[in-house]
Formats: sequence, structure tokens, C-alpha cells
Amino acid sequence: MNHDGKVAIVTGAASGIGRGIAERLVEDGASVLIADIDESSAIEVANALGERAGPFACDVTDEESVEAAIEAAVASFGRLDIMVNNAGVLQISPVVETDVDDWDRMFAVNVRGMFLGAKAAAKRLIEQDDGGVIINAASGAGRHGVGMLSHYCATKACAISMTQSLALELAPHRVRVNAYAPGHIMTPMWDEIWEPYASRVGKSVDEIRELFLGTIPWGRYGEPADVAPGISWLCSEDAEYVTGQTIGINGGEWLH
Ligand SMILES: NC(=O)c1ccc[n+]([C@@H]2O[C@H](COP(=O)([O-])OP(=O)(O)OC[C@H]3O[C@@H](n4cnc5c(N)ncnc54)[C@H](O)[C@@H]3O)[C@@H](O)[C@H]2O)c1
Repeated sequence: MNHDGKVAIVTGAASGIGRGIAERLVEDGASVLIADIDESSAIEVANALGERAGPFACDVTDEESVEAAIEAAVASFGRLDIMVNNAGVLQISPVVETDVDDWDRMFAVNVRGMFLGAKAAAKRLIEQDDGGVIINAASGAGRHGVGMLSHYCATKACAISMTQSLALELAPHRVRVNAYAPGHIMTPMWDEIWEPYASRVGKSVDEIRELFLGTIPWGRYGEPADVAPGISWLCSEDAEYVTGQTIGINGGEWLH
């Protein structure tokens, strides 16, 4: 893909899938703001990516912080073309143990964060009057339920729904809105899942790894580098007729 001259913001880009997307967009020619609540890791990632990457400490749950990220991208690189609302959190929690704070935190990062990112980016893109792309992180967990993840699944169903509505609303401005729904992509997020999940279901981590692996027809877990090329394509002119879609990147794990 060729993104020469394009400017992107990737939230949650200090780790995992966001980092993989940022790396790929830089490789394909874009300048990228590495926006993450973890400032030191964002600096590390931006330094590793070179002069077309810049770090920005951003809390996606906070409107001022998200607006400041847009300002920073424009100040550093001159414009905005691509907003990737990737930041997200996950928590293993049976519903009877999930308290209101757990629920609110999940929705604050995964849904409010996406709304604020889309809102601030849409304002800027409409003002520029030159089209643009908004990409949201959904999940297979937004397509089907998963026990002990009811609040997470609900946020990812929101991501799919918002992607559709925003695509319809922003099409007259030539702003495309799509989402990606990854399967099991090995990132630091998973490091926090294996142990609590395994102990909840009375199995070892190795048994759970084997069990989940058996659900993936392609026969291996995914990596951020499996997700990033699809996102780069969604951001490109080759995907000019693609909007409102949620693209599964999952080794065939689910087909809808
Ligand atoms: N890894 C998977 O298998 C998988 C599958 C489906 C969907 N997803 C989604 O993909 C996205 C990335 O997941 P990942 O696996 O790379 O996770 P990760 O934990 O490796 O990275 C998430 C990043 O988001 C940042 N973040 C958290 N809260 C933030 C906030 N309030 N403001 C700004 N940044 C914040 C973290 O600091 C971290 O750098 C998430 O939305 C996740 O739900 C992941």
C-alpha cells in the first residue's frame, strides 16, 4: 500500500495490534501519531519507528485529551487522513462478580473512547473537506457472545453498530468508516487472560491454549502482523468502495 503524505493517529499504539498497525502504516509511507495512555511505551515505539512517528500521551476516555491528539497530529505532520480507534481493555469477569465500576471502565475505554476518537476525527476531516478514513477495533466478541466477557462483548457489538451508523452519516463527506474484528491475536492483552481464564474453568493454561487453538481452522494463533496489512488496505484508495464493514481477521474462526 502507498500512504505517502498521509497522516494517521493510532490509539493504543504502544502495544499489540495498535503497534503493529502503526508500524505497517509507517512502512507504507504514512506519518503516525502513537497515541496511548502509556506514555513511556508510546515514546519507545515512536523512537523505534523513526521521524515519521511521534508519541502522544492520550487517554481516549477524555474528550480534551482526544482533541489534543488531533491537534498534535496536525501540528506535527500538517493534517489528518486516518484515525484508528484501536485502544481497548478486556477483563475476565462472570456477570455476578462484575460491578458497576468494571462495567463503566469497559464502556469508557472501548465505547466512549471510540466515540470521542470518531467525533474529533470527523470534525477535522469534514473541515479539511478532502475525505478520510476512520477505523474502529471490534472483535469476534462483538459478533458472538463469550461467557465471562459479557461487558467486553457488549462494547464490541457497539463498535460494529457505530461503524455502520458513522459510515452512513459520513459518506457524503467522503469519509469511510470500517472496523476490524480480530480473532485470537497474541498480544500483551492475552498475557492477562490466560491465567485468570484457565483458573476460572479449572484447566491449565496449556490446556486452554490447546482448546482455543482447536477452534482456529488456519491452525495457529494470529500476530499483530496478520492484522496490520488488512488495516493498511482499508485505509488505501483500493478500498475506496468499502465502508460500514467489519472485517474478520481470524484464521477462519468464525464466518459471519
Ligand atoms: N488481541 C486480540 O486477540 C484481540 C481480539 C479482538 C479484538 N482486539 C481489540 O484490539 C484492540 C487492541 O488490542 P491488543 O490485543 O493490541 O491490546 P493491548 O493490551 O496489547 O494494547 C492495548 C493498548 O491500549 C492502550 N490503552 C488502554 N486504555 C487506554 C486509554 N484509556 N487511552 C489510550 N490508550 C489506552 C494500552 O496502554 C495498550 O497500549 C483492542 O480494542 C482489543 O479489544 C484484540
